[in-house]
Amino acid sequence: MQCCSSVLRPTLCILANWIFFVTSGVSQKSELSCHFGMMSGGLAVCLLPLLVFPQSVVPQEKALWQGEGTTADLQEVILGRCYNYIRVVNPSVGEKNCTAIWNAFRDAFIYRDPCSVTDRDYQTFISLSLHSIPPNKALFWEKNKQLVHSYSDTGRRMMPLGETLIGWLGDDLTWCGNSSGEGLDSVSCPTTAECENNPVESFWRIASSTYANLSSGVIQVMLNGSVSDGTFPENSFFANYELPYLRKDKVSKVQIWIMDDIEGPDVESCGTKSVAVLQQILEQKGFEYTCADNYRSVRTLQCVDSPSHPACLCSSSASTPNLSPHHLVILLFFTFQWTAVD
Ligand SMILES: *[C@@H]1O[C@H](CO)[C@@H](O)[C@H](O)[C@H]1NC(C)=O
Ligand SMILES: *[C@@H]1O[C@H](CO)[C@@H](O)[C@H](O)[C@H]1NC(C)=O
Ligand SMILES: *[C@@H]1O[C@H](CO)[C@@H](O)[C@H](O)[C@H]1NC(C)=O
Ligand SMILES: *[C@@H]1O[C@H](CO)[C@@H](O)[C@H](O)[C@H]1NC(C)=O
Repeated sequence: MQCCSSVLRPTLCILANWIFFVTSGVSQKSELSCHFGMMSGGLAVCLLPLLVFPQSVVPQEKALWQGEGTTADLQEVILGRCYNYIRVVNPSVGEKNCTAIWNAFRDAFIYRDPCSVTDRDYQTFISLSLHSIPPNKALFWEKNKQLVHSYSDTGRRMMPLGETLIGWLGDDLTWCGNSSGEGLDSVSCPTTAECENNPVESFWRIASSTYANLSSGVIQVMLNGSVSDGTFPENSFFANYELPYLRKDKVSKVQIWIMDDIEGPDVESCGTKSVAVLQQILEQKGFEYTCADNYRSVRTLQCVDSPSHPACLCSSSASTPNLSPHHLVILLFFTFQWTAVD
């Protein structure tokens, strides 16, 4: 609304806006640009040549890229997340300058070609938002985000990348530049297939390697044993930007957990297929590691949503083989009594 600067202009603008809303019945937020021409008698005329609607109302200019456009209100989202993280979620990271963090983040891609943003462009952003990761709390994962985050419990039990400040700020957002206008492309952004050096991909590359470089003590790797295209995917952030950055001098042990879905299928397990490849890599690098199929704590959490599934009735397959039929009858009896009381 910077165009309406005189006393008369805002009035005309508001009037025009009001007429527009009344006549069109559109209740969604719209941006109004006013162009003025001076007519004889000094009357300013407010025209409405540029009504920018949400995409659903009037199709905008053609999308340049296949991916979604920049998340609406990106600045507010990032600033809000930043303050929420440092004041509420994890104040133990200490003072951070959220304004400076937003500026550094924005400067990595705003007004820039969205196919030539590199990891290095986020360097200032990374150093401003960096904090340590508590020892033994690093958790790496692929293809099971929901399970990982319900287990990690916003950094209370574990601290995966998405629950560090850096990951928290970027989680589930899309952003990229436009050489003109506001400097952001709100319509579309390149996918990784279109170009690897896009702002989102480069962000997660540097976020991942930084996170791995900072991890220490016993670290966890939770993978999905039910996927058909590789439990340890060759071309993944974990394989390419985390595993290579783990430090022998800081990591004492790697615990691998292969979690199948409760309903299955059990496609991969410790020691087989792509998991064996991961184990081999860790061995070559000289890391001590363990591997567990359906690690009990996480399995118990999965059972919260499927309490009556057979896989959830007995404690776990590891402890059942010693039960005789006699024991089983007693156990079932008490289980029945227990549920009946409930
Ligand atoms: C935070 O960063 C902004 C932008 O760089 C700067 O203007 C401001 O003085 C900084 N605030 C503090 C408290 O350092
Ligand atoms: C594991 O992968 C399967 C197959 O892609 C998927 O359906 C399932 O949701 C994944 N499990 C988790 C916990 O995300
Ligand atoms: C880029 O900015 C220009 C000028 O504001 C605008 O016309 C164009 O629609 C924008 N392009 C995208 C893809 O957002
Ligand atoms: C890893 O961290 C050290 C400081 O602990 C730093 O000097 C180094 O540049 C970092 N490497 C990467 C790849 O982030």
